Amino acid sequence: MTLNGKHVFLGVTGGIAAYKCVELLRLFKKAGADVVVAMTRAATRFVGPATFEVLSENPVLLDLWEGSGSGVAHIEVASKSDLAVIAPATANFIGKLAHGIADDALTTTMLAMTCPVLICPSMNTDMYQNIRVQKNLDLLEESGIHILDPDSGVLACKTAGAGRLPEPWFIFDRACALFYKKDLKGKTILVSAGPTVEAIDPVRFLSNHSSGKMGYAIAGAAEKRGARVILVSGPVSLDAPVGVERVSVESCDQMYDAMLGSLGQADIIIKVAAVGDFKPVSVQAHKIKKNGEQDQGHMTLELTQNKDILKAIGLKKRTNQYLVGFAAETRDLETYAKGKMEKKHLDMIAANIVGKSGSGFKADTNKVKLFTRDGLVTDLPLMSKEKVAHAILDAVVQAIS
Ligand code: CTP
Repeated sequence: MTLNGKHVFLGVTGGIAAYKCVELLRLFKKAGADVVVAMTRAATRFVGPATFEVLSENPVLLDLWEGSGSGVAHIEVASKSDLAVIAPATANFIGKLAHGIADDALTTTMLAMTCPVLICPSMNTDMYQNIRVQKNLDLLEESGIHILDPDSGVLACKTAGAGRLPEPWFIFDRACALFYKKDLKGKTILVSAGPTVEAIDPVRFLSNHSSGKMGYAIAGAAEKRGARVILVSGPVSLDAPVGVERVSVESCDQMYDAMLGSLGQADIIIKVAAVGDFKPVSVQAHKIKKNGEQDQGHMTLELTQNKDILKAIGLKKRTNQYLVGFAAETRDLETYAKGKMEKKHLDMIAANIVGKSGSGFKADTNKVKLFTRDGLVTDLPLMSKEKVAHAILDAVVQAIS
């Protein structure tokens, strides 16, 4: 995600995990955010403020009595912030914020903060589970502050349990999620992505070039917008987006079963997967030999048509379910896309030309044209698959609201 023009406030308190926040800062900077770091005195015992100052390219807020001379730096920082993340957040900081105590630069700034706040507790398990800490976390949550549960594992104090600060990429992902409107809250979205794989024999298969990037971008975007997401995926080399329930499949038949099995739970179905249209009539139990029963130098593979998953969903879906299909074409985009929308009973189809640079299977960008049953046509420009994903979801939200 790009954070160009966004102001992020990063509060670091005195926990051993403070070192992880150097990487967290780098992730925000890499995404284009302007970051101001505030540290408690205890935090400076773990990581020197100079590290944060150099990497953030901003002075570190340490003391209310130092700095600009105007005496209101903390108010300026708070009013400018679009997002505040506190990592690691100690029991002491959590207690102070929960009760409105402002006795240093960080807690004072936080009381003036009106933007979304993400707090990442990190401490010894017994401290974390202490009823007073838990009650303070509840108080913060009730006041609209977001709490990121700590990971479990071996802690710096050599005990094992809940209390580890999650990895920087995970905190970054959850923090970025706060920038999105939750216009899909309460909805379940069923997405299919990636290629299908049809076995020929134990070592060979038929498949296609789909990387899964477009479907995964839609699944991740929908989760960030508040949806519950079930992602039925063919074999790809991508990690499942955070918070998404992934069901891994290989063949068209397996994808059919997984999609139809979850169909009843879905409000919106988006079928991005590149499903193989044909599969071998039979799968050989043993590796086919080059000089076997086939004629020398030739081999014929008999194929049979796969089920059309999207068409089956189109026939079964309830009237209150919204169905989106994809059409990968090499020519006559509009004619073929509209034909597929009719034939498969879709509410919307996202059509793209494959084989052009910057668009299609393996690229990080895509050029998509959206057609709806109501006759609406949206010609999206070439853009990142993440942006295309949000544009498709915007169109779906508009159609169902
Ligand atoms: N699709 C499907 N099951 C299939 C084939 C396709 O569910 N057996 C879905 C795809 O996931 C996509 C849409 O149908 O959402 C269109 O896929 P595409 O490959 O463009 O079209 P086909 O229906 O396979 O038609 P053709 O190969 O003739 O272009």
